Amino acid sequence: MMIIENDAAMQKLGRRIGVKLRGGECLELVGDVGAGKTTFTKGIALGLDIDEDVQSPTFTLSREYAARDGLTLAHYDFYRLQEAGVLSFELAESLLDPNTITIVEWGETIGAVLPDKRVTVMIEYMPDNEARKVTLSGENADTYLEDIQ
Ligand SMILES: Nc1ncnc2c1ncn2[C@@H]1O[C@H](COP(=O)(O)OP(=O)(O)O)[C@@H](O)[C@H]1O
Ligand SMILES: [Mg+2]
Repeated sequence: MMIIENDAAMQKLGRRIGVKLRGGECLELVGDVGAGKTTFTKGIALGLDIDEDVQSPTFTLSREYAARDGLTLAHYDFYRLQEAGVLSFELAESLLDPNTITIVEWGETIGAVLPDKRVTVMIEYMPDNEARKVTLSGENADTYLEDIQ
């Protein structure tokens, strides 16, 4: 568990995890609206040498970005539950591609589709300040945090 003090620290955490990604990973981001899921993803994108500005896919539901080493970052947001079904095929394709890293916000709404081998990043508000509590669990969670206190 980590206390992440602000927006910049959240991006830094994402970047430090992003540099370790090799393709084929699935990260599920869990947290309320405004918790910092997309901010974390912007950091992941930095760690993947993505030049484009990562925007919330809340309205487009998914976005793909070209990353280092021929990798692709696929970023999904299933907040609008009723439209999640139309993307389940696209999501399945992303998850099967060994060169794609799949990040999912609001995966709870389609939980059954996500692989058991996934990293879950839980982001929680702290009372009275802008800090967030971040907890990683699941596939190889410990290795992502090795050089992060
Ligand atoms: N410690 C923090 N970690 C992440 N974001 C923070 C933090 N403190 C403040 N913020 C702000 O909270 C908002 C998080 O928004 P966003 O990342 O889009 O959340 P989500 O995708 O979970 O809805 C941003 O405006 C960001 O600048
Ligand atoms: Mg978001």
